[in-house]
Amino acid sequence: MSRPSPARSGLVFAGPTVRALQADDFANPGMLWVERGQKLWSEPVGPSRRSCGSCHADALRGAAASLPAVDAATGRLVNLESRIQACQAQRQGIEPAAHESDALLALSAYVAYQSRGMPVRVEVDGPARPYFERGRASYHRRIGQLNLACSHCHDANWGRRLGPETISQGHGVGYPAYRLEWQALGSLHRRFRSCLSGVRAEMLPQGHPDYLALELYLAWRASSLPVETPAVRR
Ligand code: HEC
Ligand code: HEC
Repeated sequence: MSRPSPARSGLVFAGPTVRALQADDFANPGMLWVERGQKLWSEPVGPSRRSCGSCHADALRGAAASLPAVDAATGRLVNLESRIQACQAQRQGIEPAAHESDALLALSAYVAYQSRGMPVRVEVDGPARPYFERGRASYHRRIGQLNLACSHCHDANWGRRLGPETISQGHGVGYPAYRLEWQALGSLHRRFRSCLSGVRAEMLPQGHPDYLALELYLAWRASSLPVETPAVRR
């Protein structure tokens, strides 16, 4: 199994404007979502008026660095977003926030921000193994009209130019991230969709099991890189 060595964050391949925005929390537009997430975190909601903070100490510092992970109760692979949705439904008794909604982006940005600077470290053995293998297979599978796999760009050609962009190693450690092209914060799965549309491949909805498996494989590839949320990208 190969992974880029040394692993380099997408930030290394970004231009000076993007780097400057990410380096300064007052200029980083992604911090607006982190602030909104902080408010939502402490809001009592649902029939039992429980806030996230009433159950979770220190806003789950470190949790984002070890997700996705297999949920022991269901045996399913869950990422940060699906974890949050499960707590909204089961622990707060409210309708879970939709994928890519402002509320889910804000909460996931806030929780991931608590792990900023902590190295990514996910479990890929035991019950996680089949998900890992599934993610690895889809990372290397040729897809779309251009018949390219993720690996063709992010393993074999990182550092090269593609139109106006420099191809990075394709790590997800900065997500949810603010993209200038989106003029908004967006999830890692939204970024997957951008790459898939780039090679004219079929796109799946955010939260799809295939994307979760891919996210696990990417987290393994990124092992040791620090969480950067909220990253800024082009
Ligand atoms: C044709 C080349 C190409 C293919 C194939 C491709 N990507 Fe990308 N990808 C890019 C480019 C260009 C960018 C934007 C610059 C960058 O950050 O690498 C990007 C960005 C990303 C990023 C964001 C990196 C960051 O630091 O913000 C991730 C994650 C990613 N790709 C994952 C994938 C995955 C997973 C696949 C396969 C499903 C894939 N890509 C397929 C070209 C490609
Ligand atoms: C009534 C208590 C309760 C509330 C309220 C609650 N949670 Fe949880 N949460 C839990 C418990 C218990 C777990 C652990 C495992 C489980 O659910 O299986 C958990 C797990 C998590 C995890 C995974 C942690 C890890 O280490 O992987 C995240 C992330 C999370 N919650 C986020 C939230 C957010 C965000 C909110 C508010 C929208 C919230 N939770 C509201 C009880 C709660």
